[in-house]
Amino acid sequence: MAFIAQDEINKIRSSASIVDVISSYIPLTQRGKNYFGVCPFHEDHSPSMSVSEEKQIYKCFSCGATGNVFTFVENFLNVSFAEAVEIIAKTVGISISMPLSSKKETKFKEEYALMDFVLKIYQNNLNTEVGQRAIAYLKKRGLLEDTIKNFSIGLSLDQNMLYTILSKKEYPEKMLLDLGLINQGKDNLYDVFQNRIMFPIHNLEGEVVGFTARCYLKDETPKYLNTKETYIFKKGSILFNYHRAKEAIRLQKEVIVVEGNMDAIRLYSVGIKNVIALMGTSLTKEQIDALKKLRCNIILMLDNDNAGESATLSIGNILEENNISFSIIRLSGEKDPDEYIIKNGVAAMQENIQNAISFVDFKLNYFKKNKNLNEASDLAEYIKAVIDGLKNTNDAILKEVTLQKLAKDYNISYAILKEQLGDRESKIEKKPEKKEQVIENHQSSYNKVCSKILFYMMHSKDFVKLYQTKLGIFPTKEHRIIANEIVYYLENHKTIDLADFISYSENTNVKNEIMAIICNEKEEILTEEEMLELLEIIKKKIKKEEIKKLKEELKSEYDVNKKLSLLEKIAELKMEIEKEV
Ligand code: UTP
Ligand code: MN
Repeated sequence: MAFIAQDEINKIRSSASIVDVISSYIPLTQRGKNYFGVCPFHEDHSPSMSVSEEKQIYKCFSCGATGNVFTFVENFLNVSFAEAVEIIAKTVGISISMPLSSKKETKFKEEYALMDFVLKIYQNNLNTEVGQRAIAYLKKRGLLEDTIKNFSIGLSLDQNMLYTILSKKEYPEKMLLDLGLINQGKDNLYDVFQNRIMFPIHNLEGEVVGFTARCYLKDETPKYLNTKETYIFKKGSILFNYHRAKEAIRLQKEVIVVEGNMDAIRLYSVGIKNVIALMGTSLTKEQIDALKKLRCNIILMLDNDNAGESATLSIGNILEENNISFSIIRLSGEKDPDEYIIKNGVAAMQENIQNAISFVDFKLNYFKKNKNLNEASDLAEYIKAVIDGLKNTNDAILKEVTLQKLAKDYNISYAILKEQLGDRESKIEKKPEKKEQVIENHQSSYNKVCSKILFYMMHSKDFVKLYQTKLGIFPTKEHRIIANEIVYYLENHKTIDLADFISYSENTNVKNEIMAIICNEKEEILTEEEMLELLEIIKKKIKKEEIKKLKEELKSEYDVNKKLSLLEKIAELKMEIEKEV
């Protein structure tokens, strides 16, 4: 997509003024050449975001957000790249030959169309006679007609009703099997979902990719039957209701994360729309990335049972490790948020949301479980657990307050607690072995050199030429990919424009790395000589790696002649390295 429309995209970008666009969302003030505003991508009150009209990029010095007009709109409005291009096109009055955002989904077009069709069949089943029982069930659970429609809830019937319809439409059987709609039995094909209430599951972009299906005629195991993992339904990268909640999340700068889809449906239908469900009690890397992209505070509100409590601890630890700010609600009384609202009403739920607690406070409570704090050994264990739990908190005040509270509540010397925390923290800092530390330093200085080279390549085609003639290739894949992108861009455009280049790559990871480089490097004037020195460092690194490899080969080589030739090669490389010093 981006390849075909690249010229159009560049034209749109260069017709827009980044200062005009950003200032239509957040106030900017001019200081010297640049404009400054409060960064909307992290919690902040001081103007740490700078916007350059000249370079057509923005940079936040505090959180590292950076990019061009498109990425700003993408992240601020939580829309796709294609949608951002369309929005900017509209503001600058350029009409796009073909809408990009609808073109984007061509990849699984047939699959999505099929899933939509299946969804319609399930929805329609609610209107049948059998459907009345399902409707009665939904009504009994307090779901209004609007909610049933809004969440496209439907019903699966028995007697392979779905397969019968689909086979008449001549859908390829393989697709039906692959998408988890039908199963291969001993001598027949049959519907996976039968006599269940069907809740469609959408991917983050809002395409129907699977279903979660609840039994309703009688208790069955499993209670919810989910679509198997398919090439469009990857449970680990899905957050239920994400696409519907995105807008409300952006406005409220907060997202409530619950366990069950019914919890999300309940909250949403009573007007608490900034809610998504994990569909269980674990959190994957992809889901963390999706949460990060929302750039807002998270409120974790899991079920009121042991599983929900342990999951709060484990998910809390993951969020903390990922530097995501979040707070916690532990409901009391009812089993889950759904039942809580039914019994206590929306206002009571709102109050819980207002009073969400910190992770540290949660742990203060959690670690008390199954302990008798009147007993010395239990109390000691408890205090240690709480102090351990404080180590990842960046909030110095919260740390201080917690220590003081512990000291007061359990009559323990504050100094000892403080020392314990200090002790534990310094242990963490010292953790890496000396040798590992050295390797890490080497690695990070190597990465720094690569970033610097790439950064200046993005600024001048002369440096790109130098890279091509003097180095030609980075030994590390991530740097090689970015260098290749720069080279391709230059081949297509003859000159390099940083703001356009940001939108050039179609791969989000690459895009993010490019932005990280732009944000982390300070722009200074770099001479050709300095660039050559940087390239030399990488060349030397390549040779050293080669020597290492040859030495390994040497170890397992028994043929004397081959051994000699390996030694010769090593000596040659060593000489080359020394000559260059
Ligand atoms: P819950 O058992 O808490 O479901 O499981 P719930 O939301 O309260 O459901 P209702 O109110 O009984 O209808 C939480 C989530 O775990 C997944 C589902 O995604 C569910 O929403 N789950 C649960 C399954 O996938 N299979 C199951 O058998 C049960
Ligand atoms: Mn429930």
